[in-house]
Amino acid sequence: MDTVRIDFSRSRGIIPPELYGHFSEHIGGVFYDGLWVGEDSPVENIRGFRKSLVESFRRIAPPVLRWPGGCFAETYDWRDGIGPRHMRPRRVNWWYRQDGRIESNQVGTHEFMDFCRMTGAAPYVAANMTSVAPLHIRNWIEYCTVPAGSTTLADERAANGDSAPFNVRWWGIGNENWGGGGQMTPEHCADEFIRFTTVCASVVSPDMRFIICGANGHDLEWTRRLLAQYASRKSHGVPAWGMSVHYYTGDGADVCFDEDGWYNTLFLADRMRGVIDDHRLVMDAFDPERKISLVIDEWGCWHRDGTGPSRGRNLFEQQSNMRDAAVAAMTLNLFNNRCDTVGMANIAQLCNNLHSLYLADGEHFVETPNYHVFALFRDHMGARQLETRVLAPEKEKQGCAPLSTLSVSASEKDGNLLLTFANLDIASSSAIRLEGLPENAGRDCTLTVLHAPDPQTCNTFEDPYAVVPAEKNIRLGADGVLTLPAACVAALKIPLAP
Ligand code: AHR
Repeated sequence: MDTVRIDFSRSRGIIPPELYGHFSEHIGGVFYDGLWVGEDSPVENIRGFRKSLVESFRRIAPPVLRWPGGCFAETYDWRDGIGPRHMRPRRVNWWYRQDGRIESNQVGTHEFMDFCRMTGAAPYVAANMTSVAPLHIRNWIEYCTVPAGSTTLADERAANGDSAPFNVRWWGIGNENWGGGGQMTPEHCADEFIRFTTVCASVVSPDMRFIICGANGHDLEWTRRLLAQYASRKSHGVPAWGMSVHYYTGDGADVCFDEDGWYNTLFLADRMRGVIDDHRLVMDAFDPERKISLVIDEWGCWHRDGTGPSRGRNLFEQQSNMRDAAVAAMTLNLFNNRCDTVGMANIAQLCNNLHSLYLADGEHFVETPNYHVFALFRDHMGARQLETRVLAPEKEKQGCAPLSTLSVSASEKDGNLLLTFANLDIASSSAIRLEGLPENAGRDCTLTVLHAPDPQTCNTFEDPYAVVPAEKNIRLGADGVLTLPAACVAALKIPLAP
């Protein structure tokens, strides 16, 4: 019997909604034929965006959406994406050498902001720090955020259809500057961030949050040197609110897997724990007051390219099944349980790409199991996290930390206790005894389980509902025991009497 002890007296605080953030890059099929079909498309759309996707995305209350890259951002000129769409330039873009696609700029700043408005996501703009001058980004900020009538750039925005400012709060300055973003040293990256933000300072308002480029996964050396350089500089035009780290579960695996394949991926995903905890230790040495948040800007499984329905036409598109759902759930549980350390996290990427919530092509559209995980976890956003202690069997693998077969997080909000689980055991169901439930906890609960008898099952265009959650009302017995099937993700909502 597994045990989960919930400790109502210990909390790491409120779970920032932004831990449930998303990422959409101009790469492969994310925008063109994914999110964006165009206003004249036979596919039902809202001002050019795929209607089914807009409606579905809205249902999970996305807190934030990062755009336009990724690597794409590092050769992006925002001026290409404004003005009448038929006059916008077509460009070779950062990914051209890999997929030969030309960027049509049909989605630019106004369209992206419109998508955010439609879906309720706050825009997070990733600005180019590699191939433009700081003034270029300063002007983008002014274009987006200054009231109409006040400056020529604001008037240009109004003339292009949006007189009200876009109010972009989140600005990333640079992407992967240790790699595709200019192959910089950490010292150079810190200096560039300071140069850019100093130039931008005159158009920055107090509620804007700037994010500096952090490490590739567990590269703590990058973080140490970056922060040492950043801390050594006397004046910063605008302080870094966050430092981004990218960590992918890069197993290069096929969508089909055996038992070893299942656990290999989970062991790799579990390394996110070390990435977060070790980063915090390094960051604390330079930033003891914790003014800089850790932002997991890109995360998710990175399987073999070409496993998605487009069979490789859409760069990095992959199919998702219960293994991906399990990774999503264990990672979101981890973020909840580190909500005092991680300030934002964005799963990569929204549609037709890596760990996607959606797959789409023409008339076809499906929600992947990953989407359902976000739906099950939705009410953690903004809730008070509760510490849990889990006793469950562990799996061992050489060179890896032991992997608990049960991943859990708990939170309390609006008179409900929400527990989310991932049973990571591929073969055995888990009988779980819940301990520490308070007196006012009701016994009539809602249990929602995402499960497929074969964990390799995918939602396809032919069979879009192969993996969907099943919700049922259950009565928790006096012993507080519930049973979850093998390889599943689940959410248990327990009412708390006032
Ligand atoms: O998500 C795909 C790519 O992965 C992003 O463009 C880049 O930032 C990362 O290397």
